[in-house]
Amino acid sequence: MTKKKKKRWADHYTVKAKKENYPARSIYKLQEIQKKYNIIKRGGRVLDLGFAPGSWLLYAAHSTGEDGSVIGIDIKDTDIVLPNNAKVIKADIFEYQDNELFADNRFDVVLSDMAPDTTGNSFVDSARSLNLAEAAFLIAKKTLAPKGSFVCKIFFGEDFKAFTDKVKGYFKEFKIFKPKTCRKQSKEIYIVGKDRSI
Ligand SMILES: C[S@@+](CC[C@H](N)C(=O)[O-])C[C@H]1O[C@@H](n2cnc3c(N)ncnc32)[C@H](O)[C@@H]1O
Repeated sequence: MTKKKKKRWADHYTVKAKKENYPARSIYKLQEIQKKYNIIKRGGRVLDLGFAPGSWLLYAAHSTGEDGSVIGIDIKDTDIVLPNNAKVIKADIFEYQDNELFADNRFDVVLSDMAPDTTGNSFVDSARSLNLAEAAFLIAKKTLAPKGSFVCKIFFGEDFKAFTDKVKGYFKEFKIFKPKTCRKQSKEIYIVGKDRSI
């Protein structure tokens, strides 16, 4: 890796995450969202879609405390040590839509930080991101308890508005938020729906 490239990726937040024993810098995006919107409550039940390598999962498990719980789903494995109140499932979200987990569980929060492998073609990447966000929203609709909250990453693209208009209708409070921690060149943006009303 060249010095220039190393500097670009191992930025301040990557170093900070390592020091604080989080596997990825993405922890600080959820931390910003939590500070601003207070999504995860003590004792809450959280579903974390696209959890790997596990920074959001660890942060969410800590935020709910031991009376709460977190379930993470990802196509990838993780090697982090899981807290007692967290469990993970290795699965592709597109093949998991009708699983009994979703029939039996009611979550207070559904998080999705899912992202496709990027191709460099922004049209393709945002279309794939939208597919993941749509799948996450479908699961949120099936599993969120009344007054529950939904946080979802999506790459900004031409169907962004149509998607957010649809999600907005399900929540009393709806925000679009770009954490400061997002890399400048990134097209990712987060939607935050609070207080499910449908
Ligand atoms: C940016 S990472 C998530 C980082 C995570 N929030 C953290 O803090 O460690 C995006 C994740 O989405 C997962 N993902 C992408 N497509 C998926 C799918 N179809 N089903 C489940 N997970 C998926 C990827 O495997 C990847 O681990």
